[in-house]
Amino acid sequence: MSRRARLWSAALGPVRRAAEMRARLGRRSRQTAVEELDGVAIVVLPDVYNPVSNRTGGMLARVLRDAIPVRPPGQPAPRLLDVGTGCGVSAVFAALRGAEVVAVDLNPEAIRNARLNAQLHHVEHRVDVRQGDLFDAVVGERFDIVAFDPPRHVGRPSTFIDLAWEGEDVLERFAATVGDVLAPGGKVLISTRTDSASHTLADTLGFAGFDVRVVAEGRFYGATESIVEAVLRKS
Ligand SMILES: C[S@@+](CC[C@H](N)C(=O)[O-])C[C@H]1O[C@@H](n2cnc3c(N)ncnc32)[C@H](O)[C@@H]1O
Repeated sequence: MSRRARLWSAALGPVRRAAEMRARLGRRSRQTAVEELDGVAIVVLPDVYNPVSNRTGGMLARVLRDAIPVRPPGQPAPRLLDVGTGCGVSAVFAALRGAEVVAVDLNPEAIRNARLNAQLHHVEHRVDVRQGDLFDAVVGERFDIVAFDPPRHVGRPSTFIDLAWEGEDVLERFAATVGDVLAPGGKVLISTRTDSASHTLADTLGFAGFDVRVVAEGRFYGATESIVEAVLRKS
């Protein structure tokens, strides 16, 4: 391969990978899938992000599950806000560990899907699913953990499933306002990828006054996916 061809190939790599991921998702999103993650069955409806075929949502769900402490009797359950819940995989994993969850999404199909999975696992009394943009449906409430596996690319979504992949300013708005819904001592858990705009989210949270650290990492489709924990810096 010539030097020019190699340079073009390197430059187009991320674009091609994004197109491949969208194509893969497009095929899966036209039918209902029943996936399995660590022995937990998860139904994924058409037009909803699949955390198992895309692998990345599963990583956040596992970290979240492990972040929910085992409670001595009488202790209040931790409150989790699952932003962009999709099929509800993280919400269900956390509720199965005893967390009280509010799960929000803009996509109405995701709302239906998250309710369905909560019912399937008999945790619907611990998973309150609401439709809304970021924190609009939880104004005035506070959470011990806020989780978000965000859309990774900057763009204007035109279909429900596009919401899983692109947003115009969702990362910046999340970082600027997540502090308003955090309980004292609360933490944020987000997933980021090196080949996408979400890579900047940890830095954006740093500028917004959070201390950030990577708590889990994996290689998926040629990029590094990280789960980043962010806690408000003590002033
Ligand atoms: C990458 S998917 C992750 C879904 C799910 N957390 C999982 O792990 O499978 C991102 C989700 O965020 C939702 N979303 C995108 N923008 C949003 C916004 N502004 N407010 C609420 N949800 C949003 C999408 O509809 C999608 O379900």
